[in-house]
Amino acid sequence: MDASAFGKCSYSYEDYRETADWLLANTQLRPKVAIICGSGLGGLADLLENRNVFPYTDIPRFPHSTVEGHAGKLVFGELEGRQCVCMQGRFHFYEGYNIATVTYPVRVFFLLGVETLIVTNAAGGLNSSFNVGDIMLIRDHINMPGFAGQNPLCGHNDERFGVRFPCMSDAYDRELGTMARRTAEEQGCGSFLQQGVYCMLAGPTFETIAECRALQVLGADAVGMSTVPEVVVARHCGMRVLGFSLITNKVVTDYDSQQKANHQEVLQTTEMRAKDLQRLVRHMVGQL
Ligand SMILES: *[C@@H]1O[C@H](CO)[C@@H](O)[C@H](O)[C@H]1NC(C)=O
Repeated sequence: MDASAFGKCSYSYEDYRETADWLLANTQLRPKVAIICGSGLGGLADLLENRNVFPYTDIPRFPHSTVEGHAGKLVFGELEGRQCVCMQGRFHFYEGYNIATVTYPVRVFFLLGVETLIVTNAAGGLNSSFNVGDIMLIRDHINMPGFAGQNPLCGHNDERFGVRFPCMSDAYDRELGTMARRTAEEQGCGSFLQQGVYCMLAGPTFETIAECRALQVLGADAVGMSTVPEVVVARHCGMRVLGFSLITNKVVTDYDSQQKANHQEVLQTTEMRAKDLQRLVRHMVGQL
């Protein structure tokens, strides 16, 4: 794959507009809800009815997936009678994309008229009271790449998307959070629903023991390699955000432990709980 496939450092309003206009011309659907499916959680897109499916490679100016055999599709359709657009396959910073490219779809969603963004991911549990297979409602985040100068809003600010200095103290919508907790109870997910702070690291390495301990001291409950840039861009343009992390493993914080983080464990847990998370998201969408 040539370097240009990883996207530009910045995009103009016209780039996003061109993508959005093409999609609007190719689907009758006008979604108010966008869903970004995390690793192994793309099955949600298969639940949509009256679907219009666009492989990323068909969409003008849209970034392409680097992962071989990984679904890279934008799926429009109806979930519980609500029009939605679902990203099956997201763009991770660790794959080599520019941070502006990682968040490209979110601004396209904004231009499509989307008002609510639902994000899901797989994450490592830092909070010792979390169990593998818990679903964590994201209450707040720590933008670690942002600490290191990788914020998707760096550079020229286009006021058509939002203000120069957007507020992030209300990043995750409280009303949606309350609805999610109630919905989890109703759907029999109450016993494994947690709530906490998600910390993003760039990856692709899993964390060292010292890093995990440091993140616990910082107040993070879960750690992963995605989501935060998309949320920052969504909040910048005024979307409401609801986020869930599936706790796929417990991080190692003990030098005597023989446990090691591995991608296989992540995939197995995701498979076990994906249906519960899908059901939760589906019933949330039905109430929006
Ligand atoms: C961990 O999660 C529990 C239950 O959600 C919460 O009460 C606690 O404040 C969290 N943090 C720590 C450091 O235990």
